[in-house]
Amino acid sequence: MDGAGGDPQESAGTGVQGSGEHPWWKHGVIYQIYPRSYQDTDGDGVGDLRGIEARLEYLAWLGVDATWISPFYPSPMVDFGYDVTDHRGVDPRFGTLDDFDALVAAAHVRGLRVILDYIPNHTSDQHPWFAEARRTRDDPRRDWYIWRDPAPDGGVPNNWQSAFGGSAWTLDEATGQYYLHSFLREQPDLNWRNPRVEAEMLEVIRFWMERGVDGVRVDAVQKVIKDEALRDDPPNPDYRPGDDDPYDAYLRILSGDRPEVHDVIARMRRVTDAYPNRVLIGEIYNAIERLMPYYGRDGGGCHFPYNFQLIKLPWDARTIDAAIRRYEALLPSGGWPNWVLGNHDRHRIASRVGSAQARVAAMLLLTLRGTPTLYYGDEIGMRDVPIPPELVQDPWEKNLPGQGLGRDPERTPMQWDASPGAGFTMGEPWLPLGDFARTNVEAQRDAPASLLSLHRRLIALRRAEPALSLGGWTPVEAEGDVLAYLRAEGGARFLVALNLGPAPARLAGEWSGEIAVSTHPDADGRAVSGAVGLRGDEGVAVRLRA
Ligand code: NOJ
Repeated sequence: MDGAGGDPQESAGTGVQGSGEHPWWKHGVIYQIYPRSYQDTDGDGVGDLRGIEARLEYLAWLGVDATWISPFYPSPMVDFGYDVTDHRGVDPRFGTLDDFDALVAAAHVRGLRVILDYIPNHTSDQHPWFAEARRTRDDPRRDWYIWRDPAPDGGVPNNWQSAFGGSAWTLDEATGQYYLHSFLREQPDLNWRNPRVEAEMLEVIRFWMERGVDGVRVDAVQKVIKDEALRDDPPNPDYRPGDDDPYDAYLRILSGDRPEVHDVIARMRRVTDAYPNRVLIGEIYNAIERLMPYYGRDGGGCHFPYNFQLIKLPWDARTIDAAIRRYEALLPSGGWPNWVLGNHDRHRIASRVGSAQARVAAMLLLTLRGTPTLYYGDEIGMRDVPIPPELVQDPWEKNLPGQGLGRDPERTPMQWDASPGAGFTMGEPWLPLGDFARTNVEAQRDAPASLLSLHRRLIALRRAEPALSLGGWTPVEAEGDVLAYLRAEGGARFLVALNLGPAPARLAGEWSGEIAVSTHPDADGRAVSGAVGLRGDEGVAVRLRA
């Protein structure tokens, strides 16, 4: 927001010239913070809200518009905060509600927005609701969760799988019934078919909106409604036993992704829309065509369902080109696109594609049409950190060890500087630190050729040029490792040409313009005339002459 003060909610569309009629979440850049790992201020080795507040200056300097903060609610931390015992509080490890209010106020002063993680599908098994629900079969709270009698042979009620391994059902010995958990057994699923559950959980959104948050990222939203008759999921014909995650053995079209979920999301959206300038983002891992209904009928669903294609696809120009085209073609009318390169559930981009391509990936993320979400640490090229078995924290890795599913490697502490705790903590970090002596913010901050400087330049260019944020997207035919497209708005046109391979390459055509930003900063400002030559691992954003 160019240092603009005041409550961002009062000034929709600041930051980009002439974009007043466009909501901030369309032209803004979102930066995800995993709060355990961002900044520790009390020396317990776990990040906290005060730490995030202390780093807002950095976010403003980087130029992002909003931060999505992963959960900080009271929790036994079996799934590191995605197992909530109080949706309206702050876990003491992260601070207090006062700290949260101070964080939101300080963010707004800097023109930064704050997006929360809203977890509607499940609670912790330690939540007071579940403690009541499991007391007896006829407890008034029983129906807040999903219970079923054992199958005739005493086994689980159906074939639904937990995302973290094994059946999604656990027998409650005391009452003799199974309860459903789409994730860990410590995360029982709420029963959203019970109107009292829905009313209570919608109140949670209001609670945080009243406190001034600018939006919510809705966790696992496609899971919220399941098949009422609990029919088995059908087998997945493409499943390769031994190679694929056993979770993919079935098509999860009855254990989630039900048509009725869209009515629930529409009601979440109505609550959100009662407050100005807020955003509702859905977390949905699904085939791209199955994402589209999550925009809702007449756009009354999520403002956007997260698009994880760049996380999942092989790093290959033709594959990504086809995926972008397909996504653009499938978007419903008025549906706003978005792109994600990394998050706390998937391996880091620098580890997936290597340091040289991480620069190309940054240019791709920040020049595509649609809201970019940047994962903390990716802006300096943090890599997955190998976690020795005795230090494993993630329950997924504990359940299914050695299969590369564990998420600790991408959740290690932010690398601020080369001091012993990486500038993250004065204590013992909750996960091992990465290569912080080499890769850190301090070392990159003033280095023009650093990945951090590249992010900053790209974000600044995107902010200054509506063509790159709100403008149209047109594919450009290219071959081999080259991926290319145009972005245009009004009279301004940019060509983005990316070489996803290590060998020099060329984009044919009669292009004329000047390189606005290159992954190789020695090329910034260089004239382009005719075909565009690219060095290995080079990407350029070219301002085309009219
Ligand atoms: C998705 C979250 O991103 C992940 O970290 C979490 O474990 C599951 N949902 C369950 O809440």
